[in-house]
Amino acid sequence: MSSIRTQVRTQVRTQVAIVGAGPSGLLLGQLLHRAGIDAVIVERQSPDYVLGRIRAGVLEQVTMDLLDEAGVGARMHKEGLRHSGFDMMLAENGLVQRTRIDLQALTQGQSVMVYGQTEVTRDLMDARSAAGLKSYYEASDVQLLAIESTHPAVHFTHAGARIQLDCDFIAGCDGFHGVSRASIPPAVAKVFEQVYPFGWLGMLSDTPPVHEELIYANTDRGFALCSQRSATRSRYYLQVPLTDSLDAWSDAAFWAELKLRLGDELGAQLQTGPALEKSIAPLRSYVSEPMRYGRLFLAGDAAHIVPPTGAKGLNLAAADVKFLSDALVQWYGDHSAEGLDGYSAKALARVWRASRFSWWFTTLMHQFPGEAPITAQLKTAELNYLIHSPNAQRVLAENYVGLPLQFASLS
Ligand code: APR
Ligand code: PHB
Repeated sequence: MSSIRTQVRTQVRTQVAIVGAGPSGLLLGQLLHRAGIDAVIVERQSPDYVLGRIRAGVLEQVTMDLLDEAGVGARMHKEGLRHSGFDMMLAENGLVQRTRIDLQALTQGQSVMVYGQTEVTRDLMDARSAAGLKSYYEASDVQLLAIESTHPAVHFTHAGARIQLDCDFIAGCDGFHGVSRASIPPAVAKVFEQVYPFGWLGMLSDTPPVHEELIYANTDRGFALCSQRSATRSRYYLQVPLTDSLDAWSDAAFWAELKLRLGDELGAQLQTGPALEKSIAPLRSYVSEPMRYGRLFLAGDAAHIVPPTGAKGLNLAAADVKFLSDALVQWYGDHSAEGLDGYSAKALARVWRASRFSWWFTTLMHQFPGEAPITAQLKTAELNYLIHSPNAQRVLAENYVGLPLQFASLS
């Protein structure tokens, strides 16, 4: 028996124990607080570490509405960039085709908000701290106990003391590498996974974006994405082999490759500068079912991962949290378990739709090593169809702006 388990425990109690202080955990904590439900967050990293993560920041209307519902949307509306379209580019054998996907026209007026996940996280952290809500940062050896009972608990070490957090429910918002999904018996969990044979090399720079909207480019040198954080801060991505390491990519090498992929016209407009951050991330599609086991409920990356091409990760996490917070409010309101019992199926219906879109967009826009020549031809044909067909663009636009929340209830 490890010494940790025999330590004297300080016992604390809450209604909902939230494991993880990323967007999922923080948004859930905020929605529960506004509903008068007590929740305590247990996070293994420091606040600065959490804020140091650079992630996609394209918010669907559903997510924008949820941030408003949580009372943290003000800065997003003030500083966020409302985008009503984006460009698709196909560059092959020196021929560049580029078209704008007019989201607003194709979806009867919908658009997206470009607002970095770091800022969403900061807004949620500020709101939680302003409300004086309890969060344990830099918690270690986090364990979930008795999740099959009606008296679950989270045990963890914080500032040298072993804490036992007794609760009614545990929200596993601790991401892909967290402890929550791992606490579900393997015989119960059903995992679906596809790992893509390439990664994304991301670069953040204080340089004006090359274009006022995002550009998704499928080029014969590989995928490239031109995104942004503000009028003076850009975010770029290059598809790279999984074997690549960061030290093989100087700033100069990054800019040179991006120029090659964007072609002469855009390349000439590209403003370069020193990297504020550079990282290589793998791409995977991953879903673990069910998203509930006893009194443990998974939300966000703890249950599913999508390739970032469709910018769905944060938006899926927000939808999970909305479904879970509504179910918990119902339970504490009239002790009805209907929402809690239906949570997993409802969340997964939306997860699978967004996973399908993200897989389709990733497959279409990337060069797959060793791809059969006919597959490459068929993808080029689909891209040409997309570039020239408003009907095909409408399907893309509907998924990109995000399906309505109630869509999940049709499953
Ligand atoms: N105990 C406590 N906290 C943990 C543990 C653990 N054992 N393991 C991980 N965590 C914390 C991480 O440090 C992180 O802060 O849980 C948090 C999970 O946050 P995310 O990984 O950001 O996941 P989520 O909140 O669901 O947000 C999803 O983040 O990764 C992106 O693309 C993803 O945009 C999506 C969003
Ligand atoms: C980003 O800005 O980080 C970003 C934007 C759109 C995506 C992926 C990432 O599809």
